Amino acid sequence: KDLDSFITGLPKAELHLHIEGSLEPELMFALARRNKVDIPFASVEDVRAAYQFSNLQDFLDIYYAGAQVLREAEDFRDLASAYFARAAADNVRHAEIFFDPQTHTDRGIPFDVVMEGLLSGMAEAEQAGVTSKLILCFLRHLDEEAALATFKQAEKWLDRIAGVGLDSSEMGHPPAKFARVFAAAGEAGLKRVAHAGEEGPPAYVWEALDLLKVDRLDHGNRAMEDAALVQRLAEEQMTLTVCPLSNLKLCVVKDLAQHPIDAMLEAGLAATINSDDPAYFGGYVAENYRAVAKARGLSRGQIAQLARNSFTGSFLSEAEKAAHI
Ligand code: ADE
Ligand code: ZN
Repeated sequence: KDLDSFITGLPKAELHLHIEGSLEPELMFALARRNKVDIPFASVEDVRAAYQFSNLQDFLDIYYAGAQVLREAEDFRDLASAYFARAAADNVRHAEIFFDPQTHTDRGIPFDVVMEGLLSGMAEAEQAGVTSKLILCFLRHLDEEAALATFKQAEKWLDRIAGVGLDSSEMGHPPAKFARVFAAAGEAGLKRVAHAGEEGPPAYVWEALDLLKVDRLDHGNRAMEDAALVQRLAEEQMTLTVCPLSNLKLCVVKDLAQHPIDAMLEAGLAATINSDDPAYFGGYVAENYRAVAKARGLSRGQIAQLARNSFTGSFLSEAEKAAHI
């Protein structure tokens, strides 16, 4: 079998996917029209041409602008349905998807509308054989009070939310800023994850572990600069949700040929491959596997290990994991 079909054929879990980051330009235009929302683009080609980023913030500015077209529950359902169709084509059997409620509630969209839409898309996907869980992300460029208020809004939905996460602008917004809301989420029995070490220093990864008590680490690239940290992550078998095409597009790596994915595996880290914001970064999960496998010359054994790690690192029960591996 050729490498492409080997990769596509592997059963996978996706553990790092921002649902708002799966908004393809075609759907953005359709929703802009349906909801009579103005967007600063003339055409789908115009949108794609704007997707050239020199860092995380560059991307976030466009990503938050794009999310403005999402207004009704059916918009969130259509967004989720479109993602699950792409995921199923890549043989994704389970997805743990991030959503950014503050991006929506701050422009007057009720928290319940977001939840109802996403849950309806997830229920439809489950019928088609793809299971999923939701991870509520707090925007770290906002203050902790706002995160606590969002967590309060989530209260009645906590049986439908698997965990909390931390995303948006990393530099200048260390995990320590969110210690209280993460403690509250832990008290409520939720899993905890955080973006750390994407642009931020190893110290932010230490904080995510020690202060936020994360169950999984999102990105973690810069942990590789700190040998003691690598040793800690390996000892704890902490899952890292690595996103190769995102790293390339956001200039976390200069070239995929310099991507640390195999160095992570060789250091004994529980790395996984994920798409982050596939509509913006040029590829869904299988394309992330393919691109980094080719650039780094990964063996089939390494590729299969990455796919196995995605189930091991998921928040499925041990019995559910065993059924997938
Ligand atoms: N929000 C969406 N994608 C993100 C990323 N890669 N890093 C931080 N925040 C994000
Ligand atoms: Zn992300």
